[in-house]
Amino acid sequence: MNTVTLKIDGREVTVPEGTSILEAAKTLGIEIPHYCYHPKLEVVGSCRMCQVEMEKAPKLVISCATTVTEGMVVYTRSPKVEKARKAVLEFFLLNHPLDCPICDRGGECPLQDYTMRYGPGESRFTEEKVNRIKHKVFGPYIIFDAERCILCTRCVRFCRDVVGTGELGVFDRGDHSQIGLFPGKSLDNKFSGNVIDLCPVGALTSRDYRFRSRPWDLIKKVDTICALCSRGCNTTVDVRHLMKGQEILRIRPRINEEVNSCWICDEGRFGFHFAHDPARLREPLHRQGQKLVPLPWKEATARIGEKFQEILRREGPGALGVIASSRLTSEEAHLVRRFFQESLGTGNMDYQVRREQEPEGDFPEDFLRRADKSPNSRGLREAGLLPGEGGLGVRGMLEAAAGGRLKVLFLLEEDLAPLAGEFPLERTLSGLELLVVIDLFMTEAGRLAHFLLPALGPYEKEGTFTNFQGRRQEVKPALGPQGDIWPLGQFLDELEMALRGVVVGAGYG
Ligand code: SF4
Ligand code: SF4
Ligand code: FES
Repeated sequence: MNTVTLKIDGREVTVPEGTSILEAAKTLGIEIPHYCYHPKLEVVGSCRMCQVEMEKAPKLVISCATTVTEGMVVYTRSPKVEKARKAVLEFFLLNHPLDCPICDRGGECPLQDYTMRYGPGESRFTEEKVNRIKHKVFGPYIIFDAERCILCTRCVRFCRDVVGTGELGVFDRGDHSQIGLFPGKSLDNKFSGNVIDLCPVGALTSRDYRFRSRPWDLIKKVDTICALCSRGCNTTVDVRHLMKGQEILRIRPRINEEVNSCWICDEGRFGFHFAHDPARLREPLHRQGQKLVPLPWKEATARIGEKFQEILRREGPGALGVIASSRLTSEEAHLVRRFFQESLGTGNMDYQVRREQEPEGDFPEDFLRRADKSPNSRGLREAGLLPGEGGLGVRGMLEAAAGGRLKVLFLLEEDLAPLAGEFPLERTLSGLELLVVIDLFMTEAGRLAHFLLPALGPYEKEGTFTNFQGRRQEVKPALGPQGDIWPLGQFLDELEMALRGVVVGAGYG
């Protein structure tokens, strides 16, 4: 690789040929303010915010669009540069509304920040500001405020070049130029939320997060992994303490060049509300006649253990099956396999309910999203949560249940919905002597359960997911349990205690 050595603010730096001055300065930790430049978008050099002084150049140059040359000498904070920055900021602020106190971007806005750092202290503009459209709905998740826009065109380039849908354009001329939707279009592509992060001001804001918090009210920013498909995008979950307790208010992408670059899809960004859904299961339930009624965890576990032990003694481990979801963490999967396969000796164990969960079934839907909508199929495969020797897979277990050969089934966060046509659940599962369902919500299978136990959601779990590339990534809890919910490991521990010394089988002699 050819390199170039230059001096920026008196410090020497060597960078690959073709690097821009702005990027070279970044490697030295020198900030050059910028708006239209974004490392993942085409360089347009339109905002003029990134001007720097270059020795032997007759005038200032824009650092985002000027590549470095050997021996170049650059100044990023000379009086000439500072004067130019002030002028550019004054220009941006001419028609900018005084919205900061009510703007969602307030507190994390590059226009505020650069104005404080480099801008003029006061305005000389006494004329009337140009009024433009405010609160225009651009799409299901995005709202537009034209008065705040500084026309950097990041949003236009993102939709055109990254997503390829091109809903946005610049319309009209001069100080009437404005971002808008092409006729008949709505900003409803699957990645529209990324324009919120890209917009350097509060012109494109989230309809979901609007007016819900100031950045300094977010008490926790948890770096974790999206659990809504097998890519496992790296995210930050922002949590605020509200009257009802801690709540997730927004999810933003975290940069990981190997996984998601700096993007996430709208599902991963806005699809977290189920975590706070009032319909979540919040306590253990057990069947009494036609009804499911609450029962404390300890008692539920003891009763499951008692029934379990009686069936195992009579029928042996071949009458027991486990179907798990690949929403389980790898650590949970290890505990499940150890308990059911190593300790109890059953080989009836699987997670592959959907074709996409199988190794060859997963495929890319676009540049980010994957067909497998669970985060950890690969992790479960690697943890060995698969049929053991002579053991049954998902279909085999359901056939055995329907035929009366399987007596006990544990459904771990798996609703079996995709197989309900082939195996009508009521007919298939009603012959079981013990059906234990652990899930977030009431499901068709849950309605048939003898014991229905609440599960922790993906924003409450701790552990690892292995994405489709084989990268093991850490999941961290942003929220505490949303009810009286035991982690799966705790439930298995208690069940093991209930069975210890009673069941005659491998590990329990
Ligand atoms: S809406 Fe935001 S991202 Fe789009 S051009 Fe205006 S300032 Fe830039
Ligand atoms: S692409 Fe997949 S992992 Fe990434 S944010 Fe969307 S659903 Fe989540
Ligand atoms: S960031 Fe360089 S011209 Fe806009």
